[in-house]
Amino acid sequence: MATGIIIGIAGLINGLAFGILSVLPKMTPDKVDGVDSKVRIAVGLASQMGGDSPYIAAFNEMTQFVGYYDPSGKIETGGFSDFNINQHCDKCRKGQQATYLQIFAGDDAICVAYIGQTWADGTKLGWLGDMGKVCGMPNYYSNIQVEMADGGSHVPYCTWFDRDHSDPTFNVGAIQLHMPAFSKMGQYSAPPENVLCSKPITVAHYDAGRDDSILPSFWGSTRKSRRTLGSSKKDFRPRSSASNSAFNETLIASHLPQHNATALCASPESRGPDFISFDEGVFCDMTNRITWPLCGETITNGCYDWKTHSFVDRKLRKRETDYSNIVEWKSGG
Ligand SMILES: *[C@@H]1O[C@H](CO)[C@@H](O)[C@H](O)[C@H]1NC(C)=O
Ligand SMILES: *[C@@H]1O[C@H](CO)[C@@H](O)[C@H](O)[C@H]1NC(C)=O
Repeated sequence: MATGIIIGIAGLINGLAFGILSVLPKMTPDKVDGVDSKVRIAVGLASQMGGDSPYIAAFNEMTQFVGYYDPSGKIETGGFSDFNINQHCDKCRKGQQATYLQIFAGDDAICVAYIGQTWADGTKLGWLGDMGKVCGMPNYYSNIQVEMADGGSHVPYCTWFDRDHSDPTFNVGAIQLHMPAFSKMGQYSAPPENVLCSKPITVAHYDAGRDDSILPSFWGSTRKSRRTLGSSKKDFRPRSSASNSAFNETLIASHLPQHNATALCASPESRGPDFISFDEGVFCDMTNRITWPLCGETITNGCYDWKTHSFVDRKLRKRETDYSNIVEWKSGG
């Protein structure tokens, strides 16, 4: 299993696995030199979930700037990249604990399944895409496995980040996270959503332009931008249910029992390709948010036929689909 954050399921919010207790070294970057820290970002395993590497700014527990990563290149779909946070620049703070991270997406959106972090002192922390979903950010299933403390595996959601909001419902351009909050909370009970999803633990921005001539500043207030998303749920709502065309060439068909096509279709914040859950026997049309049963021995009309990739109506008429990219997610790979 190419996996690794060990998480402990200590609390459940909206039925999601929650609470990172400890993080395996293999899922977090190696520490370098006691001066810099590192951040690993893993993205979902489906077309278009990879994208631009983000700009990252780090702050200490006093909310002072400690260092940054200047992006280059892409994070490959289904893969991860390790980013070195430079803490030895002029205004940087060598070796300090980078407890707050600001992650600024590029124009090519990424769907983040998890973030692993290693401080200069070797402390390891993590965040799961599930937490973005809890906070009402656009999300999808990831097909990335993380290992749990009990040895089982968990497949987190991934959360979409996108600077140019190419899909208008990708409304989070940047996010600030208090990383220790996600590790500590698993040991106790998870905090209520309004604590988890507001400052100082999670602050999301619609527009968070960076000015290269000045140091990034800590977002202590959600008033910084009128379009700040931190506490205002309504900003997360989709503006148009038909704005899904960026994904309309792809169909994802999952054999993983934890994947529920009905729930994905019903979730107002889910964004991504049409989806099949074989376990459930359901097809989800993500554009129109309509579910169809899969055709089978007992269901022969009003269903989606996986063998011919067509919809079969009540009069047994077939309408073929034209997905150019059909991806199967198998379990136990
Ligand atoms: C996907 O959407 C685009 C833009 O709306 C459209 O041109 C294209 O034909 C669609 N493709 C499929 C397979 O429906
Ligand atoms: C899938 O989700 C729906 C809607 O949330 C729920 O009613 C159903 O019980 C779920 N199915 C499974 C197998 O978990």
